[in-house]
Amino acid sequence: MQTNKAQRENWGTRFGFLMAATGSAVGLGNIWRFPYITGENGGSAFIIIYLLCIIAIGLSIMIAEFAVGRRTSLSAVGAYKSQNENWTFAGALGVLSAFFIMGFYPVVGGWSLAYVFKSATGLLAAPEAISSAFDAFAGATIEPLIWTIIYMVINVIIVAKGISGGIEKASKVLMPALFALLVIVIIKGINLPGASEGLAYLFKPDWSQVTGGTVLAALGQSFFTLSLGMGCMITYGSYLGKQERIPADATSVVAMDTMVAIMAGLAIFPALFAFGMEPTAGPGLVFVVVPAIFAHMGNVGPLISITFFAALTVAALTSSMSLLEVAVSYLIDEKKMNRKTATYLSAGIMTVMCILSSLSMGSLSGIKLFGVNFFDFFDILTDKIFLAIGGMLLTIFVGWFMRKEDLKNEITNNGTLPFGLFGVWYNIVKYVIPVVIAVVAIAGIAAIEQKSLMLFGLLVIVLLGVFSRKL
Ligand code: PFF
Repeated sequence: MQTNKAQRENWGTRFGFLMAATGSAVGLGNIWRFPYITGENGGSAFIIIYLLCIIAIGLSIMIAEFAVGRRTSLSAVGAYKSQNENWTFAGALGVLSAFFIMGFYPVVGGWSLAYVFKSATGLLAAPEAISSAFDAFAGATIEPLIWTIIYMVINVIIVAKGISGGIEKASKVLMPALFALLVIVIIKGINLPGASEGLAYLFKPDWSQVTGGTVLAALGQSFFTLSLGMGCMITYGSYLGKQERIPADATSVVAMDTMVAIMAGLAIFPALFAFGMEPTAGPGLVFVVVPAIFAHMGNVGPLISITFFAALTVAALTSSMSLLEVAVSYLIDEKKMNRKTATYLSAGIMTVMCILSSLSMGSLSGIKLFGVNFFDFFDILTDKIFLAIGGMLLTIFVGWFMRKEDLKNEITNNGTLPFGLFGVWYNIVKYVIPVVIAVVAIAGIAAIEQKSLMLFGLLVIVLLGVFSRKL
């Protein structure tokens, strides 16, 4: 009934897997989203809560997702279903999250791609106009749509080629450039006059601004940035070779991802304060502050800017490929579609959602669902509710519905790998995380404005539960 384990493709090498999982984790979430969410939530205190979520919750969930994926050799829905039919809905929630995130992520990927070309064609020539140029571009009708569609087509080409052929090769070749470029931006930014205020913003916490909403935002961001709570790492784990070390691999993915996010913060905030801009500028932050830094670099500015946005686009691609893969592997494993059909169908639906999201920045900005535009609808629903609940469901499933012995064998490679912290990990997953997420979700929903949207999200989850046997 389910995929034949013997036929499942594997990652070519451990390095290939690590690059792909890190590639999925490191993306727009680190460089575009982390700085602007940090700015909207007051800076340092938010970052501390975010780091706590990463260490105390994210790492354990990543180990759990890899273990479930490798144990079952199945993608999200099948992995749950193969262990317990009643849990199909938790996998389905993951697939739905993948569709929803892909309803706005490629729009930002398209912006990034556009900025490669804009950097080459005079964007930096008028530094004072960079901010208004972004607003005009993102709010336009046709131009951002074209970039979004090009971005989506690149995803389709890679994913249609299959897991080791496409994703692995692309990740291996394209990831490392980003690191080097961020270092250049940081050095330049920190040396601008007035940058120290930005460092204080990043490192001196002001706890008075923290509410339940801040904690929910930090929790949601930690899931988003690590690609957790929606079965993506279950799917990637399902291609993982039996000899690989799950705890070590998860730790390196988490460490790299966190490092890139902090680097993005260091790249943006010192320069932002030096230029006298507002941290609360929202989704345009990276598209405004970073070009403004490059504009101060003289003749090399455009070249560095081109390279930066090319690297950002690549980082985004290695993440969106993994999102598309969640949907595609569901259709292949559960609906017996072939890879090409599954890719075209999923990408088609996602493109329609992206068109709505992109237009909601301009011509469709008046249309509201539960008080927010399309872009925010897909973003808030996934980030603030589906991923966190998805993560909670995964920990309940692993802690209460899987056999402890099986988990231990999976994580320690049948006892051949020492993992002294297994007991700690198991108890955190079984008892601590479900309770913490429930408390944060309730406190967060109580504190934030979009209550009707949150309740709608919960209703969707309940409906998935009711109809899950059809999935
Ligand atoms: N982690 C990605 C990022 O930070 O950009 C986004 C993402 C990818 C979220 C894959 C969820 C996912 F399953």
